[in-house]
Amino acid sequence: MFGKITKFTGKIYGKTYSQGYYKYSLSLFSKEYALVKWGPNIVSKVHGHNGKDCTFVILNGSMDEKVFHTFENVKTRVHEPLRYAHINDKMGKHQMINEDDRPKYSFHIYY
Ligand SMILES: [Fe+2]
Repeated sequence: MFGKITKFTGKIYGKTYSQGYYKYSLSLFSKEYALVKWGPNIVSKVHGHNGKDCTFVILNGSMDEKVFHTFENVKTRVHEPLRYAHINDKMGKHQMINEDDRPKYSFHIYY
C-alpha cells in the first residue's frame, strides 16, 4: 500500500543526517519524497542515486551543484530558487553546495 520501502532510511518515513544536511523522507507508491535542509556553507559528499531519477527544486535561494559526468568532466550548475532540476546516474554523480550563511531547503522526488 505504501510502496517500496526506501533503501536510504529503511523505513516508510525517516530523518537522516549526512554530511551537512538533514533529509526528511517519505516513501509512497514506489516514489520517495524528501525535504532536505542544507546547513550554511556546506559541501555535500559526491553521490549517485542508486539507478533512480531525482527531480528537485531549491525552495529558498540558490545552490550550486557539481555534476561529475566523468572524473575529468565536471560541470557546475547554479540552481535558482523554484526551478526544477534533474539528475540521474547516466548524467553522473553530483555534489550540492550551499555557499550562503543561512540554511537552504529543497524538495526532491526519487523515482
Ligand atoms: Fe543527490
